[in-house]
Amino acid sequence: MANNEELFKKIISHAKEYGFIFPSSEIYDGMAAVYDYGQWGVELKNNIRSYWWKAMTQLHENIVGIDSAIFMHPTIWKASGHVDAFNDPLIDNKDSKKRYRADVLIEDHIAKIEDKINKEIEKAAKRFGESFNKEQFVTTNPRVLENLSKINDINAVYSSAMQANDLAAIKKLIEDLGIVCPISGTKNWTDVRQFNLMFSTKVGSVSEEADTIYLRPETAQGIFVNYLNVQKTGRMKIPFGIAQTGKAFRNEIVARQFIFRMREFEQMEMQYFVRPGEELKWFEYWKNERIKWHLSLGIASDKYRFHDHEKLAHYANAATDIEFNFPFGFKELEGIHSRTDFDLKRHQEFSGKKLQYFDPDINESYVPYVIETSIGLDRMFLAVFSNAYCEEILEDGSQRTVLRLPNILAPVKAAVLPLVKKDGMPEKAREIMNKLKYDFNLIYEEKDAIGKRYRRQDAIGTPYCITVDSQTLEDDSITVRERNTMQQERIPLSNIATYLQEHINHLTL
Ligand code: GAP
Repeated sequence: MANNEELFKKIISHAKEYGFIFPSSEIYDGMAAVYDYGQWGVELKNNIRSYWWKAMTQLHENIVGIDSAIFMHPTIWKASGHVDAFNDPLIDNKDSKKRYRADVLIEDHIAKIEDKINKEIEKAAKRFGESFNKEQFVTTNPRVLENLSKINDINAVYSSAMQANDLAAIKKLIEDLGIVCPISGTKNWTDVRQFNLMFSTKVGSVSEEADTIYLRPETAQGIFVNYLNVQKTGRMKIPFGIAQTGKAFRNEIVARQFIFRMREFEQMEMQYFVRPGEELKWFEYWKNERIKWHLSLGIASDKYRFHDHEKLAHYANAATDIEFNFPFGFKELEGIHSRTDFDLKRHQEFSGKKLQYFDPDINESYVPYVIETSIGLDRMFLAVFSNAYCEEILEDGSQRTVLRLPNILAPVKAAVLPLVKKDGMPEKAREIMNKLKYDFNLIYEEKDAIGKRYRRQDAIGTPYCITVDSQTLEDDSITVRERNTMQQERIPLSNIATYLQEHINHLTL
């Protein structure tokens, strides 16, 4: 098996070769951290979005959706704290002239120490075989303990420096850890400074007089400023939620890892408005609901883990990340935050408008507390896509690349294939297409030998291939080939719609 870096490269080139993701503006040499979704990519992305949207709005009677504008009043970003504090700490290497995120340099250093720990564990697991007790090994092995304590020390210094906005202390930490620039190999660093991640532009016809506005860096604020509109017009009672999906923009300094960190990306966010004092109960509820949603896709549970935040942002009283094991290791996929009443209170203050809710059950008015679930659609795409990518050696020694996508997310649900391009088979196949195409996204293919056509469908993750052969013309039966097992079964043509319905359309939480 390829190592993870090689595997990741293969996944990226597969995404391009099979029409899922292209570098943006490719004929002009591309743009860093911006990507375009191709013909199958857009279908997969739409399916992930719809799976999330249905789980949020259709399966929860008290959650509704909105679609707020990307441009918003600039004071919103003052109130939310983004103008003053949505920053990343930057550092430049004076020799290579390369720019880095100081926190990422430190994170990468920690990741190297974690690698050492994992290697120790792997070695020991091999040595002890069946009798290996990982828990015991990790808590007693001196080398592992030494490395764990190094990580804790680094985290402690880093967190307190970040909390105090002490940029000199962050630079000192980088120097003390002996971190070198990967390009020049030197430790010749500039001071660390803060860099605001918001993109700004001007609105109005005369640029000097025009107002500066921002491209939203998160969709959440569009929900906060509409919460009373929705509550009143929808006669919503607390607890209730508002969901939104849409583009967000961040001027990321470190743009790498494909669609993991982009400058233009899409978020799927939900704000759940609750009675003050009940927020931690709902925080636990949403942790559970969200992990259930992920696992409902059939992805192995050991691909996920929670990472609770030890140091909380000043407005949060609980926060956790759902991390996914990407080809480059466990990284944040989704955030679940208990944001208190911070955002609504700030909007109340900056707008001068009351944002209170009258709770008829307790006869009291208050500013609700908020639990947020926030997941990057592109990151979810990468999680699903990389998890599905599989290279297999078949019994006859040939190789196939298959995307074992969850059926419900697959861009194409079935390919309709006449065995040969004659004897009335194409006509029969077209007839099937015309019947099924209103309910399923299908593809029709008659070019090349059937085996080659199966491989092409495997490569884009099509769960079923429906083949029309000479027997179809005699008794109206077809063969259905399943992508993962490659098993074929012959069923009456009249059963195919139900067959696909049963095997594809399910969303149960
Ligand atoms: N409203 C809360 C919020 O925006 P966040 O942790 O900054 O929180 C939420 O972002 C999610 O958005 C992340 O867990 C990640 O999945 C996604 N995300 C954030 N920045 C991203 C980027 N530059 N590229 C792709 N996805 C990103």
